Amino acid sequence: ELSTKRVILDLNVRLDQRIKDYLEIISNVSDKLSLKSFLVGGCVRDLLLNIQSNDMDIVVEGDAIKLAQEVNKYINGEFFSYEKFRTATIKNEEIKFDFASARTEFYSCPAAKPLIEYSDLHNDMYRRDFSINTLAISLNKDSYGKMIDFFGGYEDIKIKRIRVLHPLSYVEDPTRIIRAIRFEFQLGFKIDKADEELIKNAMELKLFNVISFDVLKEELKLMFSHGSCPALIIMRMKELNVFKLIHPKISFNFSLDKLKGYFSCLKSEGFGNNLKEWWFLCILPIIYNILKSEDRFFKRKWKFTKKEILYVEKLKKFLFKFSRKRSQNIFKDFDLFETLEGIPSEIICFLKILEEKPLNDYVLWFEKNKNVFKPLTTGEELSNRSDVKPVFIGEILKNLKKEKFFGNISTYEDELKFINKFISEKS
Ligand code: CTP
Repeated sequence: ELSTKRVILDLNVRLDQRIKDYLEIISNVSDKLSLKSFLVGGCVRDLLLNIQSNDMDIVVEGDAIKLAQEVNKYINGEFFSYEKFRTATIKNEEIKFDFASARTEFYSCPAAKPLIEYSDLHNDMYRRDFSINTLAISLNKDSYGKMIDFFGGYEDIKIKRIRVLHPLSYVEDPTRIIRAIRFEFQLGFKIDKADEELIKNAMELKLFNVISFDVLKEELKLMFSHGSCPALIIMRMKELNVFKLIHPKISFNFSLDKLKGYFSCLKSEGFGNNLKEWWFLCILPIIYNILKSEDRFFKRKWKFTKKEILYVEKLKKFLFKFSRKRSQNIFKDFDLFETLEGIPSEIICFLKILEEKPLNDYVLWFEKNKNVFKPLTTGEELSNRSDVKPVFIGEILKNLKKEKFFGNISTYEDELKFINKFISEKS
């Protein structure tokens, strides 16, 4: 099953000619420099799953920068090298090759940045996350296309199993927990039962204090970017008890149905995973309960963008006003209405799934009525009138809305009368 022949066939059938040409260049140059080079990681996994990838990782036993420099003499792509990590990248409009020197990583303590030492293919594969990412394909002429499978990754790809290589893997790098969930959804795989236990055990440790939020945020973004149902991803995170990676105080109590309601509202409003803030909208139900008390932490540590900060601020402002006014007749409070009106519709989608009373009633009432109070007169109509000074347009529209809100006017004729009265009072 794992014969050389089978994988050579895979390479020839599954890669298009252009990519095969590039690999041949790498093969020739590796031989010329007497370096062993291998196609590794995600691209091999994807190749076996028949997913075309133009982003290829090459591991070299030896100097990766030297190999990449020599290869690029034939490719003439954009070239970048990083002396510190001994890695190099060649990129053109068709393909991206990342070259890395085979290395071993040591962790001085859990979740710390690894220390690096040069090594061979086996050790380089052993430092990786899941067996499915540890397959290598030899690129040297004498063994071209031969698959090297140290940790049973081929079998795991066949049975769609996600499994780490050693028990401390999730502790050493907790972002792998998010990666494991991502691969479940992205590839339709399943985290191994033993790994579910490892994840749950890892979550008992205080990893939150040592994790890198920058990396975690990138992994969360990736996890929610694949178009899988975010509601199901969030429920899976709950099942594996991983919210604690985001913040130890999270308390989460949305049902799957509520989450689905939120995401289908976002979809119907035109918001999806092409949005820069999509990840924020996805984690909003998770962090909602601590947003008020921990917002400074999120802004600073998680480096929220301006728009994400705006979401938080608007939401907080509304909730604060609401909590102060709840004893009054909220349905007659124009200020509260306007505050909610100023909230982006994606955040309204979220407010709609909150089960807190009377907030929930209020938001649903708002959704039903917000258009009723909109003036029938448009700004354009007003600016076309010679008797309306431009400075008054905004004020007139706001007053029209307010009068409609309180039920003082309702028809277009009412509006005209109101406008005429307004103008005559001003002149
Ligand atoms: N890796 C790891 N631990 C991480 C992140 C990455 O061991 N926390 C390893 C993985 O084995 C992966 C390789 O580094 O194969 C490159 O990572 P990345 O480019 O993020 O993933 P790919 O496997 O290429 O897959 P994808 O592009 O689908 O994310």
